[in-house]
Amino acid sequence: MSANIIIGTQWGDEGKGKVVDSLGAKTDYVVRFGGGNNAGHTVHVGSEKFVLHLLPSGVLHSQSKCILGSGVVIDPKVFLEEIEALESRGFNTDHVFMSNRAHLIMPYHIILDGLWETLKGDNKIGTTNRGIGPCYSDKFERIGIRVEDLLYPEVFARRLKDTLNIKNALLTKIFNKEALSFEEIYDSYIKMGEKLKKRIINSELELEKALKEDKKILLEGAQAMMLDIDYGHYPYVTSSSPTANGACVGSGIALKHIDKIIGVCKAYSTRVGEGPFPTELHDKSGEWLREKGSEFGATTGRPRRCGWLDIVVVKHAVSISGITDIALTKIDILSELKEIPICVAYEIDGERVEYIPSSIEANQKAKPILEMMPGWDEDLSQCKSFKEMPLNAQKYILKIEELINCNLSYISTGVDRDQYITR
Ligand code: GDP
Ligand code: IMO
Ligand code: MG
Repeated sequence: MSANIIIGTQWGDEGKGKVVDSLGAKTDYVVRFGGGNNAGHTVHVGSEKFVLHLLPSGVLHSQSKCILGSGVVIDPKVFLEEIEALESRGFNTDHVFMSNRAHLIMPYHIILDGLWETLKGDNKIGTTNRGIGPCYSDKFERIGIRVEDLLYPEVFARRLKDTLNIKNALLTKIFNKEALSFEEIYDSYIKMGEKLKKRIINSELELEKALKEDKKILLEGAQAMMLDIDYGHYPYVTSSSPTANGACVGSGIALKHIDKIIGVCKAYSTRVGEGPFPTELHDKSGEWLREKGSEFGATTGRPRRCGWLDIVVVKHAVSISGITDIALTKIDILSELKEIPICVAYEIDGERVEYIPSSIEANQKAKPILEMMPGWDEDLSQCKSFKEMPLNAQKYILKIEELINCNLSYISTGVDRDQYITR
């Protein structure tokens, strides 16, 4: 009876999709528990590349049932497009389901996401513009529309009418935009609802049954620690809880069923969008990491900001989520560096700080205190065991393990499903 959780420990894009896909072959269920199509998870299988935004990365293993849990916000149009794209590539998707309690991203959420960002001007978050924040706001405002509502056209019509009244007032009176048409939204969502019907389930009941039957469940995180609404770099965060605790809430699985909590950590750091990034590199090293690591957003195509590994951040993730194991990714990218800096603490107003301050102003002032590790030249992509790795790569791994006080039990050395080492 067990469920494992996979989450990001930095600012997203750590390689969660790759790790989930590698481990997905051994599970009966893969469940996404939060976020929406703001995520971009790239999975390589042989010469084929798949970029998944909303569907769990476990979808490529048809023996694992895939579920979008109640904590996910679902844009039904994007969902159907992703399903269609996979089917057109010969994949069966009959194993993909969604919780009836999940909230729907509506057209006004996407429009308002863009309008709020414009209004914020220099203080913009740099969102993915997918309607994520406005959809979660409606959920907590208790005016959201849920997947289940699609099954009852009269209920859907009533809810849409009530909410659209508020949204159209905002659009026309505050933003001087045109009102949205009730009929257009109603027709298109009810049509999509017809297509989704067979995939809408009571997911918490299904998962409860699965646990009783001793099935293996993998909870797949999107986003990451520093984008967490409570413990990230607020307000430069997303609107959900991408932590292990969020995994339980967003899937409906009780804490007592959790076995391993695997934190995915890139061997260096990247961030997309605005907000503090103490180890960010504005020089040639940053460009080198971006080019060598192909650090361009899978969702928006934006160049990712790059910097050295920030131990303060990873320790924060280990602590908040109770991470039991770290999956280190992209260490292969660091080959050829003479020395590799690791940020072990910050200097803020002349003081050494070893935790993430709550104030965004303090985080913006944080200067990294770096320790240097010796680099290596060898290519790591073919290493099949820890012992085969060059000594200095081993030292880098052991140093991280010592600093964060957590096992690095999975080391990814390339994009492919089979390129990893377990310890
Ligand atoms: P996610 O959002 O956490 O799933 O990460 P993304 O898919 O957005 O970004 C990670 C990128 O790194 C993807 O293009 C992966 O194919 C790639 N990747 C994952 N692990 C490794 C690795 O160990 N080495 C290399 N070179 N690439 C990796
Ligand atoms: P994966 O799952 C990286 C960032 C956005 C922005 C902030 C808020 O691929 O790791 P939102 O659209 O969520 O309101 O944007 O969060 N962001 C991500 N950055 N990877 C992600 O997902 C992200 N999802 C959201 O860039 O800074
Ligand atoms: Mg990503």
